[in-house]
Amino acid sequence: MVTPLFDLTGQVALVIGAGAGGLGAEGAEALSRHGATVAIADLATRKDDVEATAAALRGADEVVSTHEVDVTDEASVAALFEQVLEIHGRIDVVANCAGVMLRREYDQTSLAEFERVVRVNMTGCWLVARQAGIAMTRNEPRLDGSRGRIVNLTTVYAERVGPVPESAYYASKAGVVNVTRALASELGPEGITVNCLAPGVFYPTKMTAALADQPDRLEWFAQRTMLGRLGDPAADFTGPLLFLASPASSYVTGQVLYVDGGWSAW
Ligand SMILES: NC(=O)c1ccc[n+]([C@@H]2O[C@H](COP(=O)([O-])OP(=O)(O)OC[C@H]3O[C@@H](n4cnc5c(N)ncnc54)[C@H](O)[C@@H]3O)[C@@H](O)[C@H]2O)c1
Repeated sequence: MVTPLFDLTGQVALVIGAGAGGLGAEGAEALSRHGATVAIADLATRKDDVEATAAALRGADEVVSTHEVDVTDEASVAALFEQVLEIHGRIDVVANCAGVMLRREYDQTSLAEFERVVRVNMTGCWLVARQAGIAMTRNEPRLDGSRGRIVNLTTVYAERVGPVPESAYYASKAGVVNVTRALASELGPEGITVNCLAPGVFYPTKMTAALADQPDRLEWFAQRTMLGRLGDPAADFTGPLLFLASPASSYVTGQVLYVDGGWSAW
C-alpha cells in the first residue's frame, strides 16, 4: 500500500541514464511502482538496454516511453524534454542518473578526458536541470505548492576525495553539488526542489562492474562503511530517490543526501 507521502500517481517522471540496468533503471522501476508515469532516456548506443528496462516496467496500466539523449548536447537535451512533454503533457520529476567515471592518475589524464568527464557529469547535470526548471515552471502548482522535483547524482566523494586517482570524476561531482544548490536557490520561489543523492559504492552496476576482479578492493569499500557492506542498487538506492522525488521531501531543497552506509560520517 502506497502512503500519500510517497504517492506519485498522476505525475510524470523522467529518468535519464536508465539504460545500463544500474541506479537509473532501479530508480525508474521504483518511481513507476509508486504511481508515476515514467519516461526513460539514455545514449543512443544504449537503445536496446533502454527498451529492455521499459519492457520490464510495462504492465497493464503503465505507460513507459523511451528516449535517446546525450546530456552533453544542448540540442539533444532540449529535444528530449520536447518529446516527453509532447507524449505525456507535463514533467513533475527529473532524476538525472547519467554519469561516467575515469579512474586514472592525474599525469595520465589528458585534457580531453578531463573535460569529457566534467562535460557529462557536471555540465550535463546543469543542462538537464536547466531544461527541467523551464518545463516545471509551466506546471500548475500541486496542493502542497510543488511544481516539480529535480534529483541529481553526485557521489560520497562530493565534498572530499578518495584514495584512488580520479581527479576528473571528483572535480565533476563536486560541481554537481553547487549546480544543485544554485538551481535550488533560483527555482525555490517557483516551488521546485533540487537536491542530490550521494551514493557510496553500489555494486554491481555497469560503472562498478570493473571491480568484480578486485575482491580485496570491494571488501575495503565495504569495511569503509559503518554498515560493513556495499550498497545494493535496488534495496538501498530506491528509497532515498523516492523520498527526494515525492511529497515526502516537500521542505527539502539544495541538499546532499548521503546514501553510503555511514561512510561519510566517519
Ligand atoms: N554505482 C556507484 O557505486 C555509484 C557511486 C556514486 C555515484 N554514482 C553515480 O550514480 C550515477 C549512476 O551510476 P551507475 O552506477 O548506475 O552507472 P552506470 O554506468 O550503470 O549508468 C550510467 C548511465 O549513464 C549513461 N550515460 C553516460 N554518458 C551519458 C551521456 N552523455 N548522456 C546520457 N547518458 C549517459 C550511461 O549510458 C549509463 O546508462 C552516476 O552519475 C554515477 O556517477 C554511482
